[in-house]
Amino acid sequence: MRLLLTGAAGQVGWELAPRLAALGEVVAPERGALDLADAGALRARVRAARPDVIVNAAAYTAVDRAESEPAAAFAVNAAAPGVLAEEAKRLGAILVHYSTDYVFDGQKAAPYVEDDPPRPLGVYGRSKLDGERAIRASGCRHLILRTSWVYAGRGRNFLLTMLRLAAERPELRVVDDQRGAPTWARDIAVATARLLADPPEGLFHLTASGATTWYGFACAILQGAGLATPVRPIASSEYPTPARRPANSVLDSGRLRAAAGIVMPAWEEGLAGCLAELRRASS
Ligand SMILES: NC(=O)c1ccc[n+]([C@@H]2O[C@H](COP(=O)([O-])OP(=O)(O)OC[C@H]3O[C@@H](n4cnc5c(N)ncnc54)[C@H](OP(=O)(O)O)[C@@H]3O)[C@@H](O)[C@H]2O)c1
Repeated sequence: MRLLLTGAAGQVGWELAPRLAALGEVVAPERGALDLADAGALRARVRAARPDVIVNAAAYTAVDRAESEPAAAFAVNAAAPGVLAEEAKRLGAILVHYSTDYVFDGQKAAPYVEDDPPRPLGVYGRSKLDGERAIRASGCRHLILRTSWVYAGRGRNFLLTMLRLAAERPELRVVDDQRGAPTWARDIAVATARLLADPPEGLFHLTASGATTWYGFACAILQGAGLATPVRPIASSEYPTPARRPANSVLDSGRLRAAAGIVMPAWEEGLAGCLAELRRASS
């Protein structure tokens, strides 16, 4: 099996690379060698690689910056998946793509299911939703996995930010009125590799089990890391950001469980795994 992986230096892509290598021959061009915003270069690269599977882990993920850089966000999150989908269709390949909980407005009280109507609050969510739609419109074989609140031991993420700030500040203030499921990039990669053995097709939610708030996540991070810095819950209104975020973005992963038997670990378990890995790396 020949696999083309984009975004191999990102949180999810980094965890995917070794797991995909166990499945076949992986081509994973770095960003310097393949800019997803360059549709022509992207098309040529897929045609040269002739993959059986395309795994698109690249994305413009700067949620706040996207508000002032919509063209860049849409090029990578909407146009590029469309090109990958057209090329997958031509080749008869399957496209595995990641999307986000931020396609929802957060007004629903219960966890969101795949058929709930999306209504993104910001540019990032809109660009990701357009990417989903472009893939579906292409008619290619596809597996779209919406995930949430991704973190890892490397990259830019909430967990590493909290660990850094806890060492720098006497107290942390963290929003307590946004609920979601913090999901370890490794758990996403492990599930993806498992899914590739017999991929279901369509749109699925894939997040850690359970849910918390950013405040709850911050408390668990510090506790797990043995840090005593106090954490104070605040409202989103006390921490204004360029992009609005959904109050509830918990996703129901029941469809994927039913279709492929995937049960994701609890978010607390993923966090413990990631912190243990960070400890191992620093010892
Ligand atoms: N992070 C989250 O909290 C979150 C939540 C829900 C869903 N998701 C989705 O999950 C997937 C994986 O996210 P992640 O957290 O692994 O993202 P990430 O760590 O930000 O990695 C994204 C990768 O894409 C690369 N990239 C960005 N623009 C590119 C371009 N024009 N050409 C080539 N490569 C480019 C980035 O390169 P640079 O490092 O050079 O920018 C980076 O290596 C994405 O589809 C994302 O939308 C993420």
